[in-house]
Amino acid sequence: MQEKIIILDFGSQTTQLIARRVRELNTYCEIVPYNKFPENDPSVIGVILSGSPFSVYDEKAFKIDLTTIRHRYPILGICYGAQFMAWINGGSVEPAGTREYGRAHLSYVDSSNPLLKYIATGSQVWMSPGATITALPENFSVIASTQKVECAAYQADGEKLWGVQFHPEVFHSECGTQLLKNFVVDICGSHQDWSAASFIDRTVEELKQQLGNDKVVLGLSGGVDSSVAAVLLNRAIGKNLTCIFVDHGMLRKDEFKSVLRDYECLGLNVIGVDASEEFYKELAGVTDPERKRKIIGKGFIDVFDREAHKLKDVKWLGQGTIYPDCIESLSITGTTIKSHHNVGGLPEKMNLKLCEPLRLLFKDEVRAVGRQLGMPEHLITRHPFPGPGLAVRILGDITPEKVRILQEADHIFIQGLRDHGLYDKVWQAGVILLPVQSVGVMGDERTYERAVALRAVTSTDAMTADWAHLPYDFLAEVSNKIINTVKGVNRVTYDISSKPPATIEWE
Ligand code: XMP
Repeated sequence: MQEKIIILDFGSQTTQLIARRVRELNTYCEIVPYNKFPENDPSVIGVILSGSPFSVYDEKAFKIDLTTIRHRYPILGICYGAQFMAWINGGSVEPAGTREYGRAHLSYVDSSNPLLKYIATGSQVWMSPGATITALPENFSVIASTQKVECAAYQADGEKLWGVQFHPEVFHSECGTQLLKNFVVDICGSHQDWSAASFIDRTVEELKQQLGNDKVVLGLSGGVDSSVAAVLLNRAIGKNLTCIFVDHGMLRKDEFKSVLRDYECLGLNVIGVDASEEFYKELAGVTDPERKRKIIGKGFIDVFDREAHKLKDVKWLGQGTIYPDCIESLSITGTTIKSHHNVGGLPEKMNLKLCEPLRLLFKDEVRAVGRQLGMPEHLITRHPFPGPGLAVRILGDITPEKVRILQEADHIFIQGLRDHGLYDKVWQAGVILLPVQSVGVMGDERTYERAVALRAVTSTDAMTADWAHLPYDFLAEVSNKIINTVKGVNRVTYDISSKPPATIEWE
């Protein structure tokens, strides 16, 4: 049985970060909505209560009955979680003065307390904004303070129940990792046996149990998630897994062939379907970005469905859905569920059961699993690439000729990034073919040809992004090479917009 920490999510933006930090301690954890504690799960070894956008005295504040967890598990409340436990037990919580927010230093630490072992006075912490505990319940004791906040951390006397009014999960809290380790390992008794290797062993066993001799079909995109899901499934059920990799004609230069070869080398049973002509036909003359997306999405489902129907007795659809895609996240107004399907509508249309072996992993854990499975590094560190591919990077209508021009220019840019050791320093990069022609000179001739934009961004999650500050010399080299070798392009620009307000893609 995989022991786990449960994180009750009261809606804080840093809840996922808490989960990341716990997993970095090689301890498995799950985020569940604040009111969905898994009462009969014998694998739970401890509970963390997250922060919240609300304060306990707000009318809409999320509240729970602590009796289901108190005295049963070690509990750590973070910010709102700490304030809620103090308040519900008779303490006082009041709006905080602005100077109590953010960066602070611990001026008093009871380092004999197991939660604060190895944490020194003076250590920097990131304090919770909004509210603060002004009086603790009886039988709760202060175990750490800052200059401004007496109760930076507390413990219920003689009980395994703690609260901290700072965020141990954020980078700015210097002692945060130590504090979480104290809680998860020393107090909850985690054996720290969660690793890529243990995940693979367990998941392969579970998949064998779940799937038996059933047949599974899986759509490969060339991206890391679907590739790792396929290799994992292949390890569990071998030839009962059939993968389908569709070329919609909007992939990068030579990508269809090279990725197909990679998949074959990995021992996958993969069918490559070149459907580019079909897609070009459907897309001819279409300029509206959303229409282009819809046509490609529907076309993909049609091709996949057609190919899958050629297979006999398929019962399951494998997908590379990962944890951030399916965490139930709370919005301030109530519970909003973020749902996600890489190929929306497919399971319903095909009447297949869904098998998502990576649904509990974060992206970097997926990469670690891929490495552990022996997959090549270039598949694992590949940049994200949009499902509709180059279609959203050709502004306006799509023709095979435009795809060719863009593939050539894109190839020069991406290869350049690799050659200069810059590829892994950016989150994502590509070239956009603009619906603009401009005047230029080539030798003695005047030209009137296309302009392209280079786009490269840094990011951690694609929700926000900054334009990558690539060296001028590098940009100059790429620009020269594109103009000199890609027929039809005579001008190169560099996109210096950040997201927001711009987006990463242009369409
Ligand atoms: P934007 O352009 O919204 O992109 O800043 C954020 C991330 O999502 C990718 N993206 C897509 N991925 N289908 C996808 O599978 C799409 O239609 C799509 N549009 C954007 C984009 O490449 C970036 O990583």
